[in-house]
Amino acid sequence: MKDSAYLIQNLGCGFYSLKSVDSTNNFAKKMFLGSELAVFADSQTEGRGRQGHSFYSPEGGIYFSWAVPEKAAAHPGLLTVKAAVCVLQALEKLTGKKYAVKWVNDIFLGDRKVCGILCEYCPGNEYGSREGFYVCGVGINTSSEGFPAELQELAGGIGEIDRAELICEVINALRKETDPVEIVKIYGQKSYLTGKEVSYVLNGEAKSGRVLGVNASGNLRVLSGDTEDVLSAGEVSVKRV
Ligand code: BTN
Repeated sequence: MKDSAYLIQNLGCGFYSLKSVDSTNNFAKKMFLGSELAVFADSQTEGRGRQGHSFYSPEGGIYFSWAVPEKAAAHPGLLTVKAAVCVLQALEKLTGKKYAVKWVNDIFLGDRKVCGILCEYCPGNEYGSREGFYVCGVGINTSSEGFPAELQELAGGIGEIDRAELICEVINALRKETDPVEIVKIYGQKSYLTGKEVSYVLNGEAKSGRVLGVNASGNLRVLSGDTEDVLSAGEVSVKRV
């Protein structure tokens, strides 16, 4: 494990390294004072996921958040997509394994979810900053051993990794100006759902179809009968065959 000297030298922003916290996203929101900030924790007691889900966060996993002023965030509309690409590329570089992104931003190793990402916008004046900012939170399972039964079927782990090195790799990539076209291209190439039969809800209607891919805005294209649906948010489940 690289130590905190490594983080100080390589992270490029202030940080908090905590044993346990409710949620690194919550903590980053409370501590943000207008300049970039990172928060890491060995475990979370109230880890949060998308769509109001909780994120199981026992010791052994990797949990971190990066807060960035709105005006410094390159292509904020694509932050979620960019975060998925940055995490995926960092994991591939440091573990030598191949990963895929399940729309919107779960990272899969084979057919198992090993990482979830929650990007949130925080309007100015609601927290300690007059300016609006984004918090991008990443949770990675290194192993799914001992996970509750309801998570056992889907959750996986990436194996052992140097946490400090991974965090620096991801945050430095997030900070870097990158061509949005290139980001969406990689995102589409790494799509876990493309070609799969899925079910989803659109405008209150339960639907199913085959995923065609991802468009230039990072939206999911699904062929349902003769209709092409374009999903900009929500959840999609792979249909069991
Ligand atoms: C999801 O699976 O829907 C997203 C999960 C995001 C979890 C990370 S862990 C670090 C940060 N803190 C949180 O409470 N959530 C994110």
